[in-house]
Amino acid sequence: MALRSIRKYPDPCLRKVCEEIKEITEETRTLAEEMVESMHAASGIGLAANQVGVCVRLVVIETGAQEKEKKPVVLINPEIVLVGSEDIGEEGCLSVPGFYETVKRAEKAVVKALDLNGHEMRLDASGVLARACQHEIDHLNGILFIDHLSSIKKRLFKKEYLKESKENK
Ligand code: CO
Repeated sequence: MALRSIRKYPDPCLRKVCEEIKEITEETRTLAEEMVESMHAASGIGLAANQVGVCVRLVVIETGAQEKEKKPVVLINPEIVLVGSEDIGEEGCLSVPGFYETVKRAEKAVVKALDLNGHEMRLDASGVLARACQHEIDHLNGILFIDHLSSIKKRLFKKEYLKESKENK
C-alpha cells in the first residue's frame, strides 16, 4: 500500500476528461485502496483518480456525515442526475489546499455507478454526500469547484491562491 501524491492546481491532470474503466482489474482495486488511504491521510472526504494523476473514471467518497456514510464508497464510471432544489454550501478541495468558498449545487443527486466487483449500484444522496458526489464527478470531467464561482470570486481566487502558492515555494 502506498500513498499517492495529490496533484495541486494548476496541474494539467486536473483538467483532463477521464476515461471510462472498461475492465475492473487488480490495478483498479489497488488504485481505489490507495486513493482511500491518501484521502484519509489528507483528511479529505473525497478524491477523484485524476487528482492522483490517473485519468480514469473512479472516485472515492467518505463524508462520515451519517452512520451509513462512514465507510468509503468507491464509484466506477459514475453517472449523476441532479434533483431537488439548489443548495449553497462551503467547499474545499485537496487539489486547492487552503481555499474554501461557497458553491451552489443541487440539493440531492442520484448516482449510478459500478462497484469494485463490477456490480451496478445506485446511491440516493442528499446533504454533504450529494455535494461530495457532484464535486468528485466534476473532477472526472476536468471541472474544479472554483469553476463554479462568480467571476469576481474567481479573480480573487487567482490573486490570493496563486500569490500564496508562489510565496510557499
Ligand atoms: Co476536489
